[in-house]
Amino acid sequence: MTDQAKDRVYIFDTTLRDGEQSPGATMTHDEKLEIAELLDEMGVDIIEAGFPIASEGDFRAVSEIAERAKTSVICGLARAQINDIDRCWEAVKHAARPRIHTFIGTSPLHRAIPNLTMDEMAERIHQTVTHARNLCDNVQWSPMDATRTEHDYLCRVVEIAIKAGATTINIPDTVGYTAPRESADLIKMLLERVPGADDIIFATHCHNDLGMATANSLAAVEAGARQIECTINGLGERAGNTALEEVVMALKVRGDIMPYETKIDTRKIMHISRRVATVSGFPVQFNKAIVGKNAFAHESGIHQDGMLKNKETFEIMRPEDVGLAGTSLPLGKHSGRAALRAKLKDLGVEVGDNQLKDIFVRFKDLADRKKEVFDEDILALVTAAMTDG
Ligand code: KIV
Ligand code: ZN
Repeated sequence: MTDQAKDRVYIFDTTLRDGEQSPGATMTHDEKLEIAELLDEMGVDIIEAGFPIASEGDFRAVSEIAERAKTSVICGLARAQINDIDRCWEAVKHAARPRIHTFIGTSPLHRAIPNLTMDEMAERIHQTVTHARNLCDNVQWSPMDATRTEHDYLCRVVEIAIKAGATTINIPDTVGYTAPRESADLIKMLLERVPGADDIIFATHCHNDLGMATANSLAAVEAGARQIECTINGLGERAGNTALEEVVMALKVRGDIMPYETKIDTRKIMHISRRVATVSGFPVQFNKAIVGKNAFAHESGIHQDGMLKNKETFEIMRPEDVGLAGTSLPLGKHSGRAALRAKLKDLGVEVGDNQLKDIFVRFKDLADRKKEVFDEDILALVTAAMTDG
């Protein structure tokens, strides 16, 4: 779809807030500043930099990120309490483009925790969103556990938040419970039923407990949400949040059926993925979509042969578009002669057909005993074949 105008989707990254809430993923002050700078440079629209009331360290990190940000909106999280919101504002107000994000759990399970009646909670939402809006003209409000909140009540509180001045309404699937069709229906319902819904941005914030966060986020966008909340590598509480690299690349690769655009420079994805893995101490699984070690690697003979002839046979996106140097064709027991020949050429080794046959037999024998065959192994096989032959 080249000539159709694409709707803009805003990318809200919460690696430094929801991502860091992942047990064991705590980052140092300097690491947070580095990740924020990379997010800003890659074109993230809104960076949720932390939860200022949570600790002195979080407050300092959010303040400094706010001072340094060049383009991104800098957002801090606050509970539905006046002192939380004030603290959040103290941290984000240094940004050229600050945002306050305030939330409260609206589902029956979450309402029971502060022990508020529906009316009392509605009043609290009105007061806190009004207070936030008096401080900052960019206010996001979230009904936590929205996907398990009664629809009538959800519509009621979303309307209250909009009337009190919220400019973005985020719909969190806090426990990763929803499914794509339901995720879409919820956004559609809110857009149809809530007065003023057309004047604000709806956001989708999905967790990955059932492995559906990316699909649920994209379904919400197709129904009218225009902000996706996500994290690098899908870092986040329990099974994590929607992975930024997945939604961004899905929209880029399948623009033909999902005509939405982001401003992310996708060539910066791999670098930030590696930095987040390192500083959080959460390695990326090998077969993780987009950023896994094997996402652009092909070992089997049929795939390698296909790739050597035409890269589109087994790749739907170019590795260069996510910041990789190229495809990798690791040699292993499933590899064929074409890949071995290509590897020898790469290593600058010229062999005739008979020598190739001999080296291939030796290679298969070694590959049966070894998980991965490295360049040094291949060179040793060439030397052995030359010596013996
Ligand atoms: O998952 C969630 O509900 C959250 C909120 C604080 C937005 O992270
Ligand atoms: Zn969350």
